[in-house]
Amino acid sequence: MTSDTTSQSNDPASGIRDGEVAVALPDHFDAQLYFIGRIRTPWKTRSECPKNARQARESGTVCTIEVDPRWQQALPGVETCSHLIVLYWMDRARRDLVVQVPAQYGSGKPTFSLRSPVRPNPIALSVVELRKVEGSTLHVVGLDCLDGTPLVDIKPYFSSTDSIADARVGWHADRR
Ligand SMILES: C[S@@+](CC[C@H](N)C(=O)[O-])C[C@H]1O[C@@H](n2cnc3c(N)ncnc32)[C@H](O)[C@@H]1O
Repeated sequence: MTSDTTSQSNDPASGIRDGEVAVALPDHFDAQLYFIGRIRTPWKTRSECPKNARQARESGTVCTIEVDPRWQQALPGVETCSHLIVLYWMDRARRDLVVQVPAQYGSGKPTFSLRSPVRPNPIALSVVELRKVEGSTLHVVGLDCLDGTPLVDIKPYFSSTDSIADARVGWHADRR
């Protein structure tokens, strides 16, 4: 069932802003996943957190990715990578908004046009610079998440495959 609930107010108790639209979530999950570790950052609140990976890179803050030792044998080779794609689970984000009003844009934006943590499956990604590997702990620059955020996956970043120099987000480039 997907009944729409369009917001009418900025009531902080509802956690929804004027112009935002929530839907009823499905009554079951389609898959399960394993968190493979935790991310340690200096940031305890959203307001302290970098807003995106670029801000995180520019801050130069080194964060640590603590991979569960169970997965230790999956790590060799990672230490040879200069950059990694890190996928993480935004565990403190709501999941039911289809239209959001991000503070920086001030008007309603459809969820899948945004990099907001608020989405049905709150998976975030960042391309990080790998500084050091110590056992199953990775030291990286480029994360924008709260301390304790669960880790979903780590993949090598291939500039030959993943970099598209002329990629464009039209609505963002064209906004006034
Ligand atoms: C805009 S998201 C971008 C995430 C990722 N770089 C991406 O593009 O998928 C980053 C913001 O999510 C919020 N955030 C960070 N960690 C979170 C968590 N564990 N749960 C919910 N929100 C989080 C913070 O406000 C942070 O500034």
